[in-house]
Amino acid sequence: MDKKISEIKNRLKGAVTIPADKSISHRAVIFSSLAKGKSIINNFSDGQDPMSSLSVFKALGVDIQFINKHTIEVNSKGTLIQPSNPLDCGNSGTTMRLVSGILAAQNFDSSLIGDESLSKRPMRRIIEPLELMGAKIFSNDGHAPLKIIGCKLNGIDYFSKLASAQVKSCILLAGMFAEGRTSFTEPFISRDHTERMLKFMGANISRTGNTVTLQKSILTPQTINICGDISSAAFFIAAGLLVPNSQIVLKNVGLNPTRTGIIDVVKRMGGNIKILNIKTISGEEVGDIQISGSELHGCEISGEIIPRLIDEIPIIAVMAALAKGTTTIKDAQDLRNKESDRIHAIATELKKIGADIEELNDGFIINGKSTFKGDAILDTYNDHRLAMSLYVAGLRCKKEICIKDFHWVGISFPDFEKLFESLK
Ligand code: S3P
Repeated sequence: MDKKISEIKNRLKGAVTIPADKSISHRAVIFSSLAKGKSIINNFSDGQDPMSSLSVFKALGVDIQFINKHTIEVNSKGTLIQPSNPLDCGNSGTTMRLVSGILAAQNFDSSLIGDESLSKRPMRRIIEPLELMGAKIFSNDGHAPLKIIGCKLNGIDYFSKLASAQVKSCILLAGMFAEGRTSFTEPFISRDHTERMLKFMGANISRTGNTVTLQKSILTPQTINICGDISSAAFFIAAGLLVPNSQIVLKNVGLNPTRTGIIDVVKRMGGNIKILNIKTISGEEVGDIQISGSELHGCEISGEIIPRLIDEIPIIAVMAALAKGTTTIKDAQDLRNKESDRIHAIATELKKIGADIEELNDGFIINGKSTFKGDAILDTYNDHRLAMSLYVAGLRCKKEICIKDFHWVGISFPDFEKLFESLK
């Protein structure tokens, strides 16, 4: 499905409730599937990625039923059964990496497959530490499909070069079944939804600095209420800032500090952003975000903040390309290993509409302009975050753009356009 967009004439105004967090939805269905008894998950994401996790656990014998569009009931026996077919993780790196940690410790063998994009993504980052725990995994030269031979695992103290929540969660989940203690140390703290939810469900888990330590634990089923996804809110934050005179409120957004790098960057860029009504829901901070149209200026983005905004870098690049002055983004080389090579993809597509953006090995140098010329056909690289970032860029294009394969937004945000239209 192609999408045509051109410069927006009117300001954006009103309020929208941001749909469920993708990362938390994955963890809610995965951890509930391990907890013997009945769990209820409210506001489960209808994105295709969390649905991949849900289908995988159905195939592993867990009874998962929809009570309504966004509420699911998980009835788990506390054990999994050998699947009769390879488990399909679709486009979802989170599904493949988290589930691998669990399957490595089962008393049966299994296989994991994914779509074309997922089959190109690096899996050695989980295979190596899992093997140190005693796991047996066969891969296609470090890529899916993965064949996992169920084994008894031992806890390890793992020092990761990468700040990756998927790797951390994989090792902690394997540690849930392993003999002895497992610890994971990362250079900077990546999103900590796993640690929070495991604790909420009764696991023996603690943090000291950048190290998380876990003992073999049994989880207790819970009712989990999922907050809105700050990574989805990011497209509305950018649109509200970039469309002159806009006044919008984004409701029920997750504000876990390991995810709020985008808010810090907007403040650095001089954007008008306010946080209201902060509360805690199922162990996660949540609030409303108020945005007003703003003149942005360039800034430096590198180091500790990168894992706190890793998924928002494509939309931050759009904001920077329309900000006054220069923005430098560094230390983000892992962005090349996402659903697409996001450094190359966003730089290539923004150049087509007239942006001044130079690709670095680990980021960009962006010199802002007052507007985009547009007048181009843009590729999404089958990447949901590229599709939504280019849509927002289109709102400031002098001439119409056409975004190809826009349907990829469904991976994380099926109602993106409907919600957007409601602010016009
Ligand atoms: C995620 C972690 C991040 C992020 C991804 C979701 C998660 O990946 O980019 O969209 O849910 O744990 P990495 O762990 O590979 O950095």
